[in-house]
Amino acid sequence: MQVCALLNGGGYAEKVAVHGGHVLPIPPGVSLKDAAGLPEVACTVWSTVFMMSRLSAGETFLVHGGSSGIGTFAIQIAKNKGATVLVTAGSEEKLAFCKKLGADVCINYKREDFVARAKEETGGKGVDVILDCIGASYLQRNLDSLNFDGRLFIIGFQGGAVTEIKLNTLLPKRLTVQGAALRPRSTENKAMVVSEVEKNVWPAVAAGKVKPIIYKSFPLSEAGEAHRLMESSEHIGKILLVP
Ligand SMILES: NC(=O)c1ccc[n+]([C@@H]2O[C@H](COP(=O)([O-])OP(=O)(O)OC[C@H]3O[C@@H](n4cnc5c(N)ncnc54)[C@H](OP(=O)(O)O)[C@@H]3O)[C@@H](O)[C@H]2O)c1
Repeated sequence: MQVCALLNGGGYAEKVAVHGGHVLPIPPGVSLKDAAGLPEVACTVWSTVFMMSRLSAGETFLVHGGSSGIGTFAIQIAKNKGATVLVTAGSEEKLAFCKKLGADVCINYKREDFVARAKEETGGKGVDVILDCIGASYLQRNLDSLNFDGRLFIIGFQGGAVTEIKLNTLLPKRLTVQGAALRPRSTENKAMVVSEVEKNVWPAVAAGKVKPIIYKSFPLSEAGEAHRLMESSEHIGKILLVP
């Protein structure tokens, strides 16, 4: 049986040892190589947006960095579960790709105010859930973009980790701010997330509704080139290292 797995790090290798509970079958229709791009993004997005922020059908969802590895997966699974999806990205080419993946509203964060667009696109209410990898520089604007009972989930700090917010934005709208990282979770906790992903996400992948988005593969010996590409931020989706 061919499998893919959620790793504790150490993936720059020809062979890895993983806990049995962190292994997933290769979904039908997905190659062994492309499946390598799925476990990390699926476990991150499912555990945060769905298990903790409880995004549900009919709600609105904003994901920053819609063309990223995380973003391209989040758009597809959120559409599959019946949410309306708004994305930010830094170029028209990236936004066009997000649209093709199913995003309903595409916002160029370099040219537009995402708070104003989020409000405008939701009839003035704001969005229900935000998945954020920017952190400090977006924190107040994320809170301003949320609807009543809105949930902000922070998974990265590309815009810094320290800032101030107006606490009086939280109270009247009953907002929730959460954060999580996948790697420090215990073995048992990761196994629980993997099992939920297999139950809730894998059927959509097997049905071809959610696809791994692979921008480019590099042999392991060219890991430096792969990092240069990632730093350039030219990519859309995942960059793979293949032994
Ligand atoms: N907490 C966790 O468990 C966990 C797990 C996995 C990943 N992460 C985090 O999630 C983030 C995405 O990971 P990835 O592997 O998908 O990385 P990636 O493909 O390199 O994506 C980074 C993205 O951030 C976007 N971005 C940068 N500045 C932005 C801004 N001001 N506004 C909106 N978007 C902006 C970039 O878009 P442009 O090129 O258009 O600027 C790019 O698409 C990273 O911060 C990573 O550390 C967290």
